[in-house]
Amino acid sequence: MTEVLTFIESNLGRFRDELYEFLRIPSISAKTEHTDDVKRSARWLADRMQEAGLQAEIIETPGHPVVLGEWRGAGDAAPTLLVYGHYDVQPPEPLEEWISPPFDPDERDGRIYARGAADDKGQLYMHIKALEAIINTQESLPINVVVVAEGEEETGSPNLVPFVEANLDRLACDVILISDTSMYSEGLPSLGFSLRGLAYFEIHVSGARSDLHSGEYGGAIANPGNALAQIIATLHDERGRVAIDGFYDDVAEWDRETRAQIASLPHSDKQYQEDIGVQALNGEKGFSTLERLWIRPTCDINGLLCGYTGEGAKTVLPNYAMAKVSFRLVPDQTDSKIGALLEKHIHKVTPPGVTIQINELHGGRPWKASAEGRYFEAATKALQEAFGTKPVLMGGGGSIPIVVEFEERLSAPVLLVGFSLPGCNLHAPNEWLPIENFERGIVALAHLYKNLAD
Ligand code: BES
Ligand code: MN
Ligand code: MN
Repeated sequence: MTEVLTFIESNLGRFRDELYEFLRIPSISAKTEHTDDVKRSARWLADRMQEAGLQAEIIETPGHPVVLGEWRGAGDAAPTLLVYGHYDVQPPEPLEEWISPPFDPDERDGRIYARGAADDKGQLYMHIKALEAIINTQESLPINVVVVAEGEEETGSPNLVPFVEANLDRLACDVILISDTSMYSEGLPSLGFSLRGLAYFEIHVSGARSDLHSGEYGGAIANPGNALAQIIATLHDERGRVAIDGFYDDVAEWDRETRAQIASLPHSDKQYQEDIGVQALNGEKGFSTLERLWIRPTCDINGLLCGYTGEGAKTVLPNYAMAKVSFRLVPDQTDSKIGALLEKHIHKVTPPGVTIQINELHGGRPWKASAEGRYFEAATKALQEAFGTKPVLMGGGGSIPIVVEFEERLSAPVLLVGFSLPGCNLHAPNEWLPIENFERGIVALAHLYKNLAD
């Protein structure tokens, strides 16, 4: 490994400069005006993969392209690793909140600030650089590698399952490695044991033919704003549980070992509260903060739209209201069943005089790792080698819907080895990645590639 480590060490400056080039391309998958930027980003990544010594190919989909990188020099008898990441990013708004522009990477306080620095361009690029170091120093890489970089993760990966289905042979692998989550805290490397699923809906509430004078008509008809508020108020009970009939039916009890493991992590509610700037924490009774984040499902309003919100007062009965509502799911809940339960619930609690329409935006199933076995041990060892500390096990509150689909379709276990930190402002203004994690992460991944064959 000495040569590989020396190569990494002496090329870190260039690796960072290249990452900044990558981060300058605004590959926002959700916005059609950025379609060409997403394409440019795919091209840029394919070129860098090729330079690193991988065979790179851009594969079109009905949406944004997949970039595939392959290194098959270990031969048919050797195991194959599939690395997955995404090169698309979330929209950067609100722009005025950014201290430096989102697509003009800036280094401050040992951090790389830019949209995508942590989620997920920075982490994806670490893999390419670890591979480059191994392939370039011609130290033997004992495994075959296929890198799948998608451009639609942030819009729910609508074309990735069909892509996987159509390329099962090419994606056949023994283990899957993903760096798109965080470490538990600074200096404490981590392995992920779970991800929550997602079920995301829009609830549209319509009333009269048009908006009406709220004095002339107020009191005689249902106001869609009031009706939506009433509906939303029925979604939780006073214990902070989701009050939809059957919502918890498929929630699997977590084993005592995992709960004990969670309880053993260093955590302070008071510090957590201060870090995010709230007066109190609030959630489902009977569970700790980390359990609420990792092993319990949620229901949250993500957006509300109704009536007059401009300057001053307007006395009006709006004829329309809309809410975006999402559920984070845990094993063994499914987004399809949650959708059916929500629909039934809403029809039960909707007051007369308004009509409802529910649209599902996207969904994804939750995931739980087996968190043992030789691949898991290989990752533990690699993180220890690079960070000098044994990694902790942590859950993931967010969602990467393709994880379960990969495991089922490719019959290979997933390793979640993430290098961002809680507080890195994913999806928010001023997203950042610690430079130290970028550098140590590359070292850890180089170790991991080697360890996987043992
Ligand atoms: N990388 C995140 C998921 C994540 C973040 C998992 C932090 C664990 C910890 C991913 O890019 C993401 O943002 N996923 C979306 C879901 C997707 C369907 C839009 C999410 O979790 O909201
Ligand atoms: Mn991500
Ligand atoms: Mn994301």
